[in-house]
Amino acid sequence: MNSSVKVVPLERVSLPLLAIAVDELTSRKVPTSLLSLDSHTGGAIGRLLATGDFSGTRDQVATLYPAKRPTRVLLVGMGAHGEITRGAIRRAAAVAAKRALALRAEAMAFHVIPEARGGVAQQTVGQVVVEGIAQGAWRFDAFKAKDDTPKLGSLEIVAGREERADLERGRRIGAAIADGHVLARNLQALPGNVCTPRYLTGVARKLGKAYGYRVTVLGREDIAQGELGALLAVAQGTAQDPQLITLEYRGAGARSAPLCFVGKGVTFDSGGISLKPPEKMEEMKYDMSGAAAVLGMFETLGHLKPKINVVGIIPASENLPSGTAIKPGDIVRGHLGKTIEIVNTDAEGRLLLSDALSYARKFKPACVVDAATLTGSVVIALGHHATGLMGNDDQLVDEVRQAGDLAGERCWPLPLWDEYREQIKSDFADVKNVGGRAAGTITAGWFLREFVDQFPWAHLDIAGTAWTETDRPDLAKGPTGMGVRLFTELVLGRAGG
Ligand code: BES
Ligand code: MN
Ligand code: ZN
Repeated sequence: MNSSVKVVPLERVSLPLLAIAVDELTSRKVPTSLLSLDSHTGGAIGRLLATGDFSGTRDQVATLYPAKRPTRVLLVGMGAHGEITRGAIRRAAAVAAKRALALRAEAMAFHVIPEARGGVAQQTVGQVVVEGIAQGAWRFDAFKAKDDTPKLGSLEIVAGREERADLERGRRIGAAIADGHVLARNLQALPGNVCTPRYLTGVARKLGKAYGYRVTVLGREDIAQGELGALLAVAQGTAQDPQLITLEYRGAGARSAPLCFVGKGVTFDSGGISLKPPEKMEEMKYDMSGAAAVLGMFETLGHLKPKINVVGIIPASENLPSGTAIKPGDIVRGHLGKTIEIVNTDAEGRLLLSDALSYARKFKPACVVDAATLTGSVVIALGHHATGLMGNDDQLVDEVRQAGDLAGERCWPLPLWDEYREQIKSDFADVKNVGGRAAGTITAGWFLREFVDQFPWAHLDIAGTAWTETDRPDLAKGPTGMGVRLFTELVLGRAGG
């Protein structure tokens, strides 16, 4: 998506669609900043508002067709004035772009009326408008017979002269985040027969080439050599070569400890010998969503080049049943040296993540944050509206939660109290990979913690937020790209903006 900031009066916008975000109107009068557009449209805005058909409540839209250009004027509601946040603006942009896509517009303009901006800084407006437009305009049709449905490819943010510089600064950040977000969603959408562990490696290498990252990849042999026994165990049932992918971005001096991000890269999760029921099993192609978030963030980093070091680690494998697959009761040794009793082969994510977390120590990280579609039970706890958040460091957990708020990717903390640890004690090994039905998300978090060495660590269980089964006003059904924005906000926050 191309984007730019344009200083032009609204009535001079000549694109096929001009979207205008407004707050909830307290009277049926045309807001002052829209008076000249209203007269340009022959009073169409005034007549619309007078009917009361449109009042600017959240997600409300109205389309006008003026006699002159712009061909269409789309009014988008953001809700009550007191509740206008960066999230409300991002959402309105997404709603507008979704509409624009349905109307087959290839280019659009977007404007937030100054009366509605509330306390949101102009730079933030620029950022979240691009984020929202790209979110709403996303569509995945790579496997459909070619049709000529146009894509929304261009955005102009309409502004006044004095706002231009701030908006432009934000636009640049938003465009970088949007690119990463799109990359993540496209990867998520790919089926398991295309998006294999090696395919993820290909994406990482491409990013490395484009932006100068060091990319290191361990295959099955190296994983065995490196004594990553838990990752190896998950992979022993599949013919696809497992991969441990590392990306290193250097934006600061060699002595500056990196932020480290780990993403679960199970490219298809059948459950293994503990086979899942067939109902919705196809959704388990999304079990690499954590990996997609890490790769998406590296796309974003390539554009923004913040002054900080960042490492990404992706343990990738399929989880399949076969004659060579792990069995319930098997005991393996993880990278940290602890032994694991595998009670359920469907709890594979924590196995390969545990090795990746132990492996992270080699980078002497300032902190490690992982994202994983880890447990179905997080949906029981939080539904689809929040990501489960846990960790060994309250300050980091807080920081991650705040980054999620900024990103519009909300997280909610769950406790890792010692009592829960009892549930993963094994009679035969140091630890077992399931802890029963009670608090399934927390015991999974505790399992990971067993393999975290020293550094501050936070864990995001994105099983309820990585994709959506229902179409939303601001988001098409399918993959959500959860994590890209949160990771980026965290990096930018640490890099000092
Ligand atoms: N990838 C799944 C978790 C999952 C389930 C994500 C449904 C999204 C939707 C994970 O590998 C898994 O199978 N977890 C098991 C753990 C259980 C065996 C302790 C689960 O949640 O059922
Ligand atoms: Mn599983
Ligand atoms: Zn899984």
